[in-house]
Amino acid sequence: MFKWRDDFSVNIKSIDDQHKELFRIGNNLYDIVSLKDGIDRYDEIMEALYSMRDYAIYHFQYEEELMEQNGYPDYAKHKREHDAFISKVKSVDEEKVDEKQEQVGMDLVIFIANWIENHILRTDMKYKNYLNNKGIF
Ligand SMILES: [Fe+2]
Ligand SMILES: [Fe+2]
Repeated sequence: MFKWRDDFSVNIKSIDDQHKELFRIGNNLYDIVSLKDGIDRYDEIMEALYSMRDYAIYHFQYEEELMEQNGYPDYAKHKREHDAFISKVKSVDEEKVDEKQEQVGMDLVIFIANWIENHILRTDMKYKNYLNNKGIF
């Protein structure tokens, strides 16, 4: 589901590592919702989702600080994308997840995977040259 490729690299080691960790957490969530063994996995799904939310908050703050400290011109627009993702993850209907764990869980994983992939490739990638030119690798 979440597969790292070289074209995800923003050529900044700490950020590439954080993106890889987001993928690892995403894959953990994917593994749980794909089990299809009929066992109630609500607690595990929510725990994995909270891990995703918490690590995303940590990573976004790290990125935002780096952009802000270096006067990155698209900072505000970039931060709005981060905020929208966190709101979406926080607004997950826990009852629906509980009722239809496999379906709602999988929809959630697909949303998260697509969002992260698009965000890294289209939005994070825009600061790559800017920050690299400031000597940040
Ligand atoms: Fe990022
Ligand atoms: Fe970002």
